[in-house]
Amino acid sequence: MDYMDFYNQSIAEPEVFWLKQAKQLDWSQLPKTITSKNDEDYNQWFADGTLNLSYLCIDKHIADGYGEQNAIIYDSPVTNTIQKITYNELHSEVSKLAGGLQKLGIGKGDTVVIYMPMIPQAVYAMLACVRIGAIHSVVFGGFAPHELAIRIDDCKPKAIITATCGIEIKRIIPYKPFVDEAINQAEHKPNHVVIFDRGIDVERPQKTYDVDYSELVAESDSVNPVDVNSNHPSYILYTSGTTGKPKGIIRDTGGYATALKFSMKYIYGVDEGDVFWAASDVGWVVGHSYIVYGPLLNRNTTILFEGKPIKTPDASTFWRVISEHRVKVMFTAPTAIRAIKKEDHDGEFIEKYDLSSLKYQFLAGERCDVATLSWTQQHLHIPVIDHWWQTESGWPMLANMVGVGLQEIKPGSAGLPVCGYDIRILDEHGEEVSDGVEGYVTVKLPLPPGTLSSLWGNPERFKAGYLKRFPGYYFSGDGGYKDEDGYVFITGRVDDIINVAGHRLSTAEMEEIVASHKDVAECAVFGIHCEIKGQKPLGLVVLKSGQTSDEEVLKSEVIHDVRKEIGAVASFKDVLVVKRLPKTRSGKILRKLLRQMADDLSFNIPSTIDDMDIIPEIQSVYKENEIGIHKH
Ligand code: COA
Ligand code: AMP
Repeated sequence: MDYMDFYNQSIAEPEVFWLKQAKQLDWSQLPKTITSKNDEDYNQWFADGTLNLSYLCIDKHIADGYGEQNAIIYDSPVTNTIQKITYNELHSEVSKLAGGLQKLGIGKGDTVVIYMPMIPQAVYAMLACVRIGAIHSVVFGGFAPHELAIRIDDCKPKAIITATCGIEIKRIIPYKPFVDEAINQAEHKPNHVVIFDRGIDVERPQKTYDVDYSELVAESDSVNPVDVNSNHPSYILYTSGTTGKPKGIIRDTGGYATALKFSMKYIYGVDEGDVFWAASDVGWVVGHSYIVYGPLLNRNTTILFEGKPIKTPDASTFWRVISEHRVKVMFTAPTAIRAIKKEDHDGEFIEKYDLSSLKYQFLAGERCDVATLSWTQQHLHIPVIDHWWQTESGWPMLANMVGVGLQEIKPGSAGLPVCGYDIRILDEHGEEVSDGVEGYVTVKLPLPPGTLSSLWGNPERFKAGYLKRFPGYYFSGDGGYKDEDGYVFITGRVDDIINVAGHRLSTAEMEEIVASHKDVAECAVFGIHCEIKGQKPLGLVVLKSGQTSDEEVLKSEVIHDVRKEIGAVASFKDVLVVKRLPKTRSGKILRKLLRQMADDLSFNIPSTIDDMDIIPEIQSVYKENEIGIHKH
């Protein structure tokens, strides 16, 4: 099949194209309406179709005779565990937990927050929710109670499902005190907290709302999947926006299932029965789409890995997992490869393992630098494919669709548009730019199935944030350009979002916290280059006048505040005190200039700057702190 023909079909006749793909799924009721408008006048897919995601991910495969195939391989170097879970076992766990949730009064349309480490029970919890039509919202375990509280107040869950602890390399992180603290801070109070006891001795305060996960499952009967409409939300996933308040991305059911099933075959090139591994976390979109729903819909064996690319126990872990479980296709973030490369520059660990099962290595989550791509290619001797997408899209927008036939790999580019995505690069007036010219990366509407349907409880923010700036287009928030062959090069976010070790974070949120410190007059937080994590946040603070407090104390206090409010995942560790911040005459802080200076990139001093002397002043502070003096 020719990629270009296939892609063109998807754009020319989207209804024909996607109905054909939808028919790859076992719907309870096949849709007759392919596209229509929802109450918000926004495009929706397969409105009159009905189906159940848990049925498609589990029961369907058992009915087809694959009950004894491994659905999940849980590989946890932090607990020295390898557990293989068949589709039959997955069915038993999920359907009984679903029965337990029903007993707790949870049903179709209710929301449930899942705050779990990377253990099988996290996957069971997600599938149990969708089995009964409940809408889950998984919150990444690295977020602090305050972030959890914000999400609780926004989606108002009837229950929270959690575990007694997470494990970060060797550090045990008790979850229950975090959950209790979040409930304490939140205005909305869930009725129940279901806790899975990992059998690790850890602080576990008891509350009246507690329910023991294992007891609940043991005392509950299996329940059958409940049919939902295609546009019923399967989940809400919060992601960083440009303000302090995260955005609850809503995912539908039928469009999502169609897109994921399509992507497994045509983007990732995996067949049913293959082993697929996305080394991410269920708290991120990659975890939702490619640890849980995509591979299970496609009857793959998915790897659930509880560890890090290094230190668990060393930089050979990824290769051990691939070789031991015969992984065919793997997906990770460039930052993980950079971390491995730093420890094993010559790829000696790679040589020790039989990686003959591995056909493709996919990378995404942040910009992939050419050096990382080349190193991976050189050591794995297979195609290494950068591809681009976001929480909002739910599945890739740019890639090399290897299932259709591998196209040329152009280092630095995230590839060609994926079927269904009509990618356009626009200038600030909404006009398309010429090849090679950088602009705003947009997708001409309508978006294909599987992409966000709105923001939870906030359709106005959805329209304002994504659809208003360029009418008729979805605005991704990224900048980039196309080359003469249609390959797209993503250059980075054009807003206040940064990407630290593949984790999407809002600098505006960090700024709000830093600015609330009693001694801080004003501040700017922005992302600067980091050799391993791609970017890291740097905070510049100006003290209130007359403030004589010890700078070191102030720095450690604001660092502590950000960690306490957002969580360790913010990786906020660098703060500098400066006398002033560069501003335009209208008082706007010149963040881009500050970032370029810190990254030691050439910069133009904007003509609108109100005070030229500030440039050498900031440069000397950077220099003293060894920021911006390393060329890269
Ligand atoms: N629960 C609690 N804390 C967590 C956590 C979790 N689930 N995940 C991360 N943290 C903590 C870490 O322990 C660390 O704390 P510290 O500052 O006290 O050391 C902090 O958050 C930052 O974590 P991380 O960004 O993961 O940095 P790291 O130095 O521990 O590891 C890498 C660096 C590159 C190895 C790691 O970031 C990595 O594997 N990245 C790949 C990310 C990825 O797959 N992203 C998904 C997108 S596809
Ligand atoms: P998230 O929603 O957390 O998946 O983050 C999405 C953002 O990560 C995108 O908007 C991009 O800024 C960035 N991103 C993801 N994949 C890539 C990629 N392959 N190349 C460049 N940036 C990427």
